[in-house]
Amino acid sequence: MQELAGCSHRSIDVRLAPQHPLNMRSIETLHRQKKTGKVSDKWDSYLPVYDRLFGPRKDDAIDLLEIGIQNGGSLEIWSQFFVNARRLVGCDINPRCAGLKYSDKRISVVVGNANESGIRARIQHIAAKYDFIIDDGSHTSEDIFQSFVLYFSMVRPGGIYVVEDTHTLYWPKYGGDLHSPRTATSFFKLFADLVNYEHWKESSTIEDLFGRFFKTSSLPEELSAGWVDSIEFRNSMIIIRKARTATHAKVGKRLITGTEAMVEESILKDSGRSTTGARPPKGPLKRLRKLWKG
Ligand SMILES: C[S@@+](CC[C@H](N)C(=O)[O-])C[C@H]1O[C@@H](n2cnc3c(N)ncnc32)[C@H](O)[C@@H]1O
Repeated sequence: MQELAGCSHRSIDVRLAPQHPLNMRSIETLHRQKKTGKVSDKWDSYLPVYDRLFGPRKDDAIDLLEIGIQNGGSLEIWSQFFVNARRLVGCDINPRCAGLKYSDKRISVVVGNANESGIRARIQHIAAKYDFIIDDGSHTSEDIFQSFVLYFSMVRPGGIYVVEDTHTLYWPKYGGDLHSPRTATSFFKLFADLVNYEHWKESSTIEDLFGRFFKTSSLPEELSAGWVDSIEFRNSMIIIRKARTATHAKVGKRLITGTEAMVEESILKDSGRSTTGARPPKGPLKRLRKLWKG
């Protein structure tokens, strides 16, 4: 509801109807309808994924960073989609990107290597934290890894980090290799174990898990403290969601509802009780249960 000037005694509902073109806007339609302006270059399978990821926040005052903007068209589309965005920042190593001009004052372009600390500092000066970060830069395994280590800490709690074009991580020219344990894909595959850390039954540590990637540097706090909420692998896209709070206790409380338990009655004894965290294994695995209880 919004009050119209001069009508302070009553307010008029100016919310847009669901079918209004501004409400109907989607990242997919904006891309498909873009006939003029700066060129954008995305695989069309990404577009519904972006709508699913970013759609719920399309009216919010978000900050977005895209590493690798080339002709700059994707920034135009983000600005049309996120009508209330605060800052839309693009970074590109190509000096010709300095010539990209936008009438939308929310858009900034930083020219330089995203993985240099000075460039990172300039990006952070524009917005201290970002809701969405997209890595569409060099697509080499080393750069993808470096950028994640440098920029995931800049993602706001609850935000999303997307790596595009990860098919290159299977191509030797980009440092990719299906079987190598050292590619950026291998690094991100470890996140499947990381997000399940609370269920580990052995004495391995998160430092052990990521050891081969942080031989000469310390493990980022984002990984050790439980900031990774989820990881999603798609064809050519890797999506990492940042947790709202730093915790490894992600499974939550066991919720048993209902009163009829004709198959497994014993479950009712836990009904209404709030159990936190994972459960010990069921059945006659006494040794494991003992280990669980420590
Ligand atoms: C695939 S294009 C980006 C396309 C753009 N995001 C779009 O959707 O239209 C990749 C861009 O990444 C830039 N790039 C490569 N390495 C980079 C780096 N280390 N830092 C910043 N930009 C980089 C290249 O100059 C190139 O313009």
